[in-house]
Amino acid sequence: MAVREILKMGDKRLLRHAQPVTAFDTDALHLLVSDLIDTMRAANGAGLAAPQIGVDLQVVIFGSGASNPRYPDRPVVPQTVLINPVIIPIETAMESDWEGCLSVPGLRGMVPRFGHIRYTGFNQYGDPIDRTVQGFHARVVQHECDHLWGTLYPMRMTDLTQLGFTDVLFPDIAAAEDD
Ligand code: NI
Repeated sequence: MAVREILKMGDKRLLRHAQPVTAFDTDALHLLVSDLIDTMRAANGAGLAAPQIGVDLQVVIFGSGASNPRYPDRPVVPQTVLINPVIIPIETAMESDWEGCLSVPGLRGMVPRFGHIRYTGFNQYGDPIDRTVQGFHARVVQHECDHLWGTLYPMRMTDLTQLGFTDVLFPDIAAAEDD
């Protein structure tokens, strides 16, 4: 268990298309998940993807409770380990909302995402996951899985006038942030 360094935008390792996991319930996979959880919690993140700590595998974790100071008013998303994910839009309508990213510290941007998706994949034990979700949960999944395809949220933005520093946009939230 360890808090790992989070790579920042500009690092080429964040632009790779990550490799699928081929063996589940292994010591190496459990260690990776443990490191992701420790690193996410230390940074008060709502999610973290393996490429963000330099690991080229399709593993993301996410989940947020009401106690997360980065997102104090957001709905609770269950703590989830999601491996080899597939995202299927249920409706093609997009919704825009603010996002931040631990690899893009200090900034927030308005990002369009599918508002209603089904996602599938596996947990670290190889058990299948199959959920249909909306809103913030759907947004978090799309954001984290984008890290597996080498995509950071600014690359999804359609209006760069809606990109700014968190302490300017949201002074109250910024006071609780680590980044
Ligand atoms: Ni991110």
